Amino acid sequence: MTKTKRMIEECLGRIDVVIELVDARIPLSSKNPDIMRLCKDKPRMIVLNKSDLSDSIQNKKWLQYYREQGYHAILFDSKNKKKNSSNLLLDQIHNFCSEKTRKDTERGMSGKAIKIMVLGIPNVGKSTFINCISGSNRAKAEDRPGVTRGKQWISLQNGIDLLDMPGILWPKIEDQTIAEKLAITGAIKDNILDIESLSIKLLTILKENYEKSLRARYKITEDLPNDYYDLLCIIGKKRGFIVSGGQIDTERTAIILIDEFRAGKIGNFTLDVL
Ligand code: G4P
Repeated sequence: MTKTKRMIEECLGRIDVVIELVDARIPLSSKNPDIMRLCKDKPRMIVLNKSDLSDSIQNKKWLQYYREQGYHAILFDSKNKKKNSSNLLLDQIHNFCSEKTRKDTERGMSGKAIKIMVLGIPNVGKSTFINCISGSNRAKAEDRPGVTRGKQWISLQNGIDLLDMPGILWPKIEDQTIAEKLAITGAIKDNILDIESLSIKLLTILKENYEKSLRARYKITEDLPNDYYDLLCIIGKKRGFIVSGGQIDTERTAIILIDEFRAGKIGNFTLDVL
């Protein structure tokens, strides 16, 4: 981590724009405040990635939140293979850098590439994002502990060069709630809590904010119980996860619940609710 930060600092001098990726389902919990500290003097864009999985109303609120904080904030879905979505993003980078481009032209350096760097915590979709905007598979998921890979410049269309950095920038886990949300979305290992407790945290947020979708997915018509473990049991029963003796297999239910949330099968949800 220290090595990664040092490398980022060393490269910053050559960078025009830092693109910070966050997970649109947890736009605050997936943000590493070190990025802001490291890159404080650099123009920064914030990309709320995985916006195909998050709540569209919350997406708008989070865009506004970050814009009010002075960021150039945009929504993105890195799995969207349509060329025009990555072209639109590249256009946004150009617009964002129009002042720099104007100055370069005045100095007789027109056509100079805009140099960008993409940063984000693991699982935020950095490799998928880079592949999407570069139209290649150059950014392989190799940023794993013990695997070394050098930095590489990738030339994108429209005169933008992207510096693909190795290394892992771990999330900043300032409290238990952040840890739970990171675990639910898969950014950190889900063994920080047992899976049933984690699913109960998820159910708490879903019941408070997205009850209709929860009911629809698991065909719940009865009143929801106040106890979240009882709610987990209702879901298990609906799914037929019964073990010998007629007991509900709550562990299996919890695993399914988390998996279906991650795959967006229950609905489009944002866990950091504004
Ligand atoms: P990282 O480099 O930041 O660690 O993340 P990576 O690109 O490896 O993406 C982590 C997971 O998130 C991958 O799923 C990837 O497909 C998914 N992902 C990335 N961006 C988006 C997005 O905008 N929308 C959606 N829906 N998913 C996204 P995986 O299950 O780990 O692997 P796989 O499904 O690609 O096999």
